[in-house]
Order: sequence, then C-alpha cells, then structure tokens
Amino acid sequence: MRLDGKTVLVTGAASGIGAATAKRCGEYGARVVVTDVNTGGAEEVAETIREDGGEAEAHELDVTEPEQVVSVIEAAHEEYGLDGLFNNAGVGHPGKSIEDVEESVRDFVMDVNINGVWNCCHAALPLLKEQGHGSIVNMSSIAGKLGLPGQSVYSLTKGAVLNFTRAAAQEAGPHGVRVNAVCPGFVDTPLTDTYFEGRDNPDRAREQMADQYPLKRLGDPEEVADCVAFLLSEHASYVTGHGMVVDGGYESG
Ligand code: NAI
Repeated sequence: MRLDGKTVLVTGAASGIGAATAKRCGEYGARVVVTDVNTGGAEEVAETIREDGGEAEAHELDVTEPEQVVSVIEAAHEEYGLDGLFNNAGVGHPGKSIEDVEESVRDFVMDVNINGVWNCCHAALPLLKEQGHGSIVNMSSIAGKLGLPGQSVYSLTKGAVLNFTRAAAQEAGPHGVRVNAVCPGFVDTPLTDTYFEGRDNPDRAREQMADQYPLKRLGDPEEVADCVAFLLSEHASYVTGHGMVVDGGYESG
C-alpha cells in the first residue's frame, strides 16, 4: 500500500489505533500530522515516524475545541495541502445501565466522539472540496452498528458517526472527496481497559470477550490501521459512504 506524496492528519494519534495508523501512514510514504490532546505522546509518535525515515510533525489538538481544530487543519492544509484526515480521537466509559450513567459522562463522551468528528469535518470539508480531492475516515465502532449493552452512550455516539459519514459522503462526493468510516470490534488498546474496568476479574472478562470472536482474539491496532490507510489511499478511489467492519468476524459470528 502506498500513500506517497500525500499529507494525512490523524486525531487522537498519541495512543492505540491513532498512533498505529499514524505510523502505518508514515511507513506507506505519507507526511503525517500527528495530533492529540496529549502533546508529549503525539511528539513521541512523530519522532518514531521520523526515526523510521518518514516525515511527521506533532501538534496539540483537542477535537472538542472548534477554534483550535480550524487553526491546526487550516495550517496543515496551507503548508502541505491536506489529502487525508482520520477522525480517530474518541473516549469510552465504564459499563453501566442507561439509568446509571451520569450526565457529565454522557456529555463528555458525546462531546469528544460526536462533536469532535463534526468539528474536524466541518473545518476540513470546505478545503478538500475546493481542491477537488481528499479522503476522510471517521472512527465508528461495531457499537455503532449493533448497539452494546452497558455501552449506551458510546453506542449512541458511534452510531451517529456512522450515519453522519453517509450524509457527508453524499455531500462531498460530487466534489471528488470521499468520506468513509471504520467499525472495529474490540481492539487491544488503553481504551479497551476502560471497558473491562470494574469487572470482578478483568483478565477473565477479556478472555471471555475474545472467545466470542470467530478469530478467538481481540484485534491489534495495526489491523485497523491498515484498513484506514487503504480507505485514505487511492486504492479505495471508488469507496465512499462505507462503514468498514474490522471485527474478527464478531458481527457475523
Ligand atoms: P486510546 O485511548 O488508546 O487512544 C485515544 C486517543 O484519543 C488518546 O491518545 C487520547 O489522548 C486521544 N483523545 C481523547 N480525547 C481527545 C480529544 N478531545 N481531542 C484529541 N484527542 C483526544 O483509544 P483507542 O482504542 O485507540 O481508540 C481510538 C478510537 O477508536 C476511539 O474513537 C475509539 O472509540 C475507537 N474504537 C476503539 C475500539 C477499541 O476496541 N479499542 C473499538 C472501536 C472503536
């Protein structure tokens, strides 16, 4: 897979799937704008890409701050011409019944997972449409397709991202811009720990979860990263409005 000559901006790129995708895009020849609220983590990822012979720079970016989003996206576009955007930043919440979810948790998760994706698309789409090309990938989840018990807010946000992606793809398509989503199953990252938090036996819960997957394991961040890199690349030139499921067979299992 190649992304030579392309500039790709990744949000939430200091950890997990975002970090893996930033590194993969660097390996495939893209210049990577590595962004996160965790500036130190973003800088470390950018440094790794550079050490491996790629091009990368790190920027602080809180996706819930519309002005900061506009400023970072416009700066990247002005300097390099933005070709790809991976709206990956997201947060989870401990498993709870709907009636037990605190309002503050609901608002926080919705702000990052929905408004964050909205803010970045809102800032990037006019630039990409004007230049007549570009590819956006939004982070959804199998939670956004299936709805997961105990994960009501998370499921709500990821379902919203998926449907927003379809709407954005229809608006952007006539301008040469593609918009897709990825819907991973459980992937081994720090976020997954949040899900298992509070279980009597988190290790056992993790094993039981893996057992529900036809492939009998959780996913690796790199396995999602390769799907995102594909959607960002010209290899996916006729793919838009799609929610790519990357779940080890969970949905169909
Ligand atoms: P992670 O916790 O390892 O990484 C998330 C990154 O997002 C962190 O670096 C964090 O600092 C950053 N972040 C959080 N709030 C932010 C904000 N307001 N602005 C900018 N950056 C922010 O989590 P992971 O697992 O890599 O998740 C990445 C995305 O993938 C999330 O959207 C998550 O919902 C989604 N996802 C994860 C799955 C999993 O099983 N790990 C499955 C399906 C989807």
